Amino acid sequence: MTTTPNVRAEMENDTELAACFPANFLWGAATAAYQTEGATREDGRGSSIWDQFAGTPGKTRDGDTGDVATDHYHLMAQDVDLMAHLGLTAYRFSIAWPRIVPDGTGAVNGRGMDFYDRLVDRLLDRGILPVATLYHWDLPQALEHQGGWLNRATALAFAEYVEAVTRRLGDRVTQWITLNEPWCSAYLGYGTGVHAPGLHSMEAAVTAGHHLLLAHGLAVPRLRALARPDARVGITLNLTPVYADDRRPETLYSQQQAHRFHNRWFLDPVFHGTYPEGLFDSLGVPPPAIEDGDLASIAAPIDFLGVNYYSRLLLRADDPQSTQPRSAPSYFGGQIVGPVPGSAYTDMGWEIYPEGLVDMLVSLQRDYRPRAIAITENGAAFRDRWAGGDHVHDAQRVAYFREHIQAMAVAVLLGVPVEGYFAWSLLDNFEWAEGYSRRFGIVYVDYPSQRRIVKDSGRWYAELRAAHHARTRKTDSVRAVRRS
Ligand code: FCB
Repeated sequence: MTTTPNVRAEMENDTELAACFPANFLWGAATAAYQTEGATREDGRGSSIWDQFAGTPGKTRDGDTGDVATDHYHLMAQDVDLMAHLGLTAYRFSIAWPRIVPDGTGAVNGRGMDFYDRLVDRLLDRGILPVATLYHWDLPQALEHQGGWLNRATALAFAEYVEAVTRRLGDRVTQWITLNEPWCSAYLGYGTGVHAPGLHSMEAAVTAGHHLLLAHGLAVPRLRALARPDARVGITLNLTPVYADDRRPETLYSQQQAHRFHNRWFLDPVFHGTYPEGLFDSLGVPPPAIEDGDLASIAAPIDFLGVNYYSRLLLRADDPQSTQPRSAPSYFGGQIVGPVPGSAYTDMGWEIYPEGLVDMLVSLQRDYRPRAIAITENGAAFRDRWAGGDHVHDAQRVAYFREHIQAMAVAVLLGVPVEGYFAWSLLDNFEWAEGYSRRFGIVYVDYPSQRRIVKDSGRWYAELRAAHHARTRKTDSVRAVRRS
């Protein structure tokens, strides 16, 4: 991999950073099926709630859909070669349920399965560890017609689908993630309606959340039974550390309530087998229908927790003395503070706050003691410009990655068992409701030609991985010399 001079100069300091991570640390990148594959009507794929949602006028920016996306379905072989060229040691992708079971339940579509079979083989052939997410938001539309995640039967259908996938890929895939960010599926999909299927009911959101958790819980034993004995199973949650802007009791109270909603809603059931006390009351809804045994299934032991980290939330309680009208609706008795003076923001409008990653990892370790943690997504959207040629200069993204990887290094030094990092994303792709307007890739995609151009951030990341490899190889050989 050739680097531009500015990337090389910056790298010199980063060799030390690379050395903070254990020898077997995974350096990966992540994508998701609907955001990258395209080919939504090929080889027997069924329709999904995202096809339906994105195809409805007004739901996504500029009416963008995932119909073509980055055409990864057809360009998979060259994309895997690109990953190998970057030196990635792991690739997190998602499997599209509607490709495998087009009607949501029943017949398995062999041609859909073949795609992932080829992908896994090619990854392994190039020395890249496949990390498969089984649900990254593309529920078969046929299940949506029966209530989607509001229907308990969807959780059972998920377990059947997982079983079919594991029977086919379980001899080679050792890293499994049941769900990606169920908080987003439940709250954004059913509570606020900004994501598919686009409902606006908090009561529906907590019901969907429960069935998503149940789906996870039912899938874990199937994976354990059918995948290789060395297979490892986890779930990926989007975690948002919540900070108080002052020390007033009202502010600290709203901070705790927001933390319960953003993080504990899914962490507590997965790790402790309970919902946080007061959660549903604070959301003004009744608890979901929980059947005997549900919470025990949901708390089935997992091997690792996947953490997606992008930003933090800063809250300040309303000032009772103030005569000013509130600038925003009350959020758990407080106001979201932003823009934060002195802070930089990404193109998503998310505050750049790497310290939040350290704080969150340390508190996770204290409160939940996961066996291992992988940062399954971290990254930033910026307005990249490609002027033709082989370069895209994205210094802000290089800085974002460096600062967050530094934060992760601090957590590792503090004893948090982080075992891998996945940049979001390998490629620019379909950013859900924002369509193609937001670019997160370490590789630029020129959508009209589907040409891929490695950004400076991709080059920097490849150099960091190489530096890590060189450093750990050196320490390995030092150890070997010491032993002899
Ligand atoms: C996460 C999603 C991922 C991507 C990033 C930016 O919430 O898991 O698909 O859209 O945000």
